[in-house]
Amino acid sequence: MTSRCDLSPVWAELQAHYAASGRGFDIRDAFKTDAGRFGALSFEAPEVFADLSKNRIDAPTLALLLKLARDCGLEARRDALLRGDPVNHTEGRAVLHTTLRAPAGSDAPFNAEVQASLDAMLAFADSVRRGERGQITDVVHIGIGGSDLGPAMVVQALQAFGRRDLKLHFVSNVDGHDLAPVLAGLDAKHTLFVIASKTFTTQETLANAQAAKAWFLAAGGTDVARHFVATSSNTAAAAAFGIDTAFGFWDWVGGRYSLWSVIGLPIAVAVGADNFRELLAGAHAMDQHFASAPLEQNLPVLLGLIDIWYRNFHGFTSRSVAPYHQGLRRLPAYLQQLEMESNGKGVDLDGNALSIGTSPVVWGEAGTNGQHAYFQMLHQGTDVIPVEFIAVKRPNHGASGELAEKLADQHRKLLANCLAQSQALMQGKTAAEALTEKAPTASATLDRDVLSRHRSFPGNRPSTTLVLDALTPRSLGALIALYEHRVFVTGALWGINSFDQWGVELGKALCNQLLPRLESGDAAGLDGSTAGLLQRLTAA
Ligand code: F6P
Repeated sequence: MTSRCDLSPVWAELQAHYAASGRGFDIRDAFKTDAGRFGALSFEAPEVFADLSKNRIDAPTLALLLKLARDCGLEARRDALLRGDPVNHTEGRAVLHTTLRAPAGSDAPFNAEVQASLDAMLAFADSVRRGERGQITDVVHIGIGGSDLGPAMVVQALQAFGRRDLKLHFVSNVDGHDLAPVLAGLDAKHTLFVIASKTFTTQETLANAQAAKAWFLAAGGTDVARHFVATSSNTAAAAAFGIDTAFGFWDWVGGRYSLWSVIGLPIAVAVGADNFRELLAGAHAMDQHFASAPLEQNLPVLLGLIDIWYRNFHGFTSRSVAPYHQGLRRLPAYLQQLEMESNGKGVDLDGNALSIGTSPVVWGEAGTNGQHAYFQMLHQGTDVIPVEFIAVKRPNHGASGELAEKLADQHRKLLANCLAQSQALMQGKTAAEALTEKAPTASATLDRDVLSRHRSFPGNRPSTTLVLDALTPRSLGALIALYEHRVFVTGALWGINSFDQWGVELGKALCNQLLPRLESGDAAGLDGSTAGLLQRLTAA
């Protein structure tokens, strides 16, 4: 058994399979020859239905990928993760975000501590909602990366479960253009600030927190202790900063996996304790699926294996995510951190340089907006970029009467667009087909053959479609957990540590060195480019 997929003997089998039939695989032909393809390649996981049939895979490909997973000991590595082994070996830490969503009384590690922390956080959130901490109309959440993206994405996605009289604002960037417009519309008396930072050392967050505190006092705020709370695993630093109410968590909760912990406080304030528990329950259901479903039916495993197939055999370097729900518009940004910070690594667990690709670029935009921006490239560009569509069957517009009917019709349009895009990517259009069509906006003088080549589509472009019945706290929890586990699967097979992020350190250190020079303008000893830019930015 080997733990790194490219060192497994199955890797060579997959390479041979790719050369023999994978490279030339045509999804259209696969549908023609197999009437049962959709049934065979669509899967049910808790809250999520997945159609994998528009991918460049078939039963032999999946069988080999599953053999690879087993040869790399994926199940044992998953079990080690869930058991709380120190799988983040460069920091000597367990990785136990799954324990945060295990129900009370379960035998998950640290269950008693987790439940106590959850109860306290939810009680606080509900006290804010009930007005027991004064009449709070606005909550400003200050954090960045994992202390921002998850809560911000979830609050937006669950807007239908929120309250109009309680607004949530998220400030992350050290750029004052983020904080200033938020503060401009607020009344200090009715504002609660949540300072979220796992380490409580992050430059951006501390700077924004200081500025917010200064604004609060200048704006007539009197009770800092009541209007500022912190969520952090470094509650001592929060206290030193002057915040009395701090909700703590543990070093075994990674920043990008922390929305389930007290970092989720703004979610709980926005949607209430019961809905927060539903979010956890959805994630827990997916955890159980990941922990126990046979690999052949295990959705995070299957998605991860297809990712490996595309990244390392087809050589696709990017994946686009297109959620067809406006509430999920921040999901691509959230997934960027989840996947790229986790799996953007170049050495294996033993520190050996990898000679295969790891994390793809993950990017995207809500549908249908993306269609009018970059989908042109997805359809006709020279790179093949697998697309992940997310469709939500039942909308929740919160409208009534004629508006409700209009919006229901718009929802059908939204779904039709979603289906049409994956269909078009797969189907394509030959030049011969294009030649037979009328194109009213085309040049009347251009040679028709030339024009038909401009109007043809290669097709055979792969996509996955995930379907949620409705966007609810429970289904969202399951969806996020699905992505978390999929990222674990690819990282485990690549033999990397998905749970550290040393790659962000160098820039932080250099920033600290440059900061005083931004004031003094001193460029001595810097490389030519940095010196030139510094002088340009600091010249009177
Ligand atoms: O960007 C690096 C990082 O450490 C992320 O991993 C983390 O989510 C973010 O900074 C914020 O860190 P903290 O929660 O400690 O402020």
